[in-house]
Amino acid sequence: MTWNPEQYSLFTDHRLRPAIDLLSQVPLHAPSVIYDLGCGTGNVTAILSQHWNEAVVIGIDNSEDMLAKAKRDHPSIEWKTGDIADFAPTSKGNLIFSNAALHWLDDHEKLFPKLLKQLRPGGIMAVQMPNNFSAPSHETLYDIAQSAEWIDRLGSLVRPAPVHNINWYFDLLSPLVEKINIWETTYFQVLNGKDAVLEWTRGTALRPFLAALDGDDVDAFESQYAERLLEAYPVRRDGSTLYPFSRLFIVVQLPEG
Ligand SMILES: C[S@@+](CC[C@H](N)C(=O)[O-])C[C@H]1O[C@@H](n2cnc3c(N)ncnc32)[C@H](O)[C@@H]1O
Repeated sequence: MTWNPEQYSLFTDHRLRPAIDLLSQVPLHAPSVIYDLGCGTGNVTAILSQHWNEAVVIGIDNSEDMLAKAKRDHPSIEWKTGDIADFAPTSKGNLIFSNAALHWLDDHEKLFPKLLKQLRPGGIMAVQMPNNFSAPSHETLYDIAQSAEWIDRLGSLVRPAPVHNINWYFDLLSPLVEKINIWETTYFQVLNGKDAVLEWTRGTALRPFLAALDGDDVDAFESQYAERLLEAYPVRRDGSTLYPFSRLFIVVQLPEG
């Protein structure tokens, strides 16, 4: 999976809003060590660093392209290349924050408890993940990838939905923590421009599929997908496109000692 920081940054406001909503629910006053897992281009990490300006804030990502932009834009923050699956810092965190990243990893039943072990007593893990894998933007992508024309090249890229429902996370995490705050929101995102939902997914879900194709196949696949997206998300009378996007939020806190 390769990332394109410029494409991802096209919808900064919409992508930032859930991170701010998540941050607003973190009841920590003076954390000393904060990790931002899957920090991407670092704009959320920078907000964490401004919010808790006495803390050491470390952004971790496995995309060199995303980290290169993060380093350029925010040179005073500490950035590390690493896989979230292997996250085991020498200094445990008071806060593990992860916005729109953990859905890229499988096996949350093992991952979430493992991440909690990297927190200090009283520490908080705050996670936001997209939860729209059954939305037309994703289902049509998987449908086309699994059609006779594409299945040989793209079928293996269709993953089972990585994010479970809210009850599943509650049952997994509540025995391990002292406090749990868990909620879901659908943002009715107003997007502008031509093929707006396609433009959005080009920055995320569509990337692995396009990366597996070359030459004319890229355009052929994209235009089939674009046509289906326009049916599912018609252009409104004012020229904009409404793209409902559901997100799952989890804030859990360990006991103090
Ligand atoms: C959708 S972006 C979110 C970036 C940032 N958190 C934000 O809110 O703008 C997802 C990021 O997760 C990173 N990522 C995905 N899987 C990862 C993994 N296994 N280890 C580390 N980073 C990962 C990607 O490289 C990408 O930068």
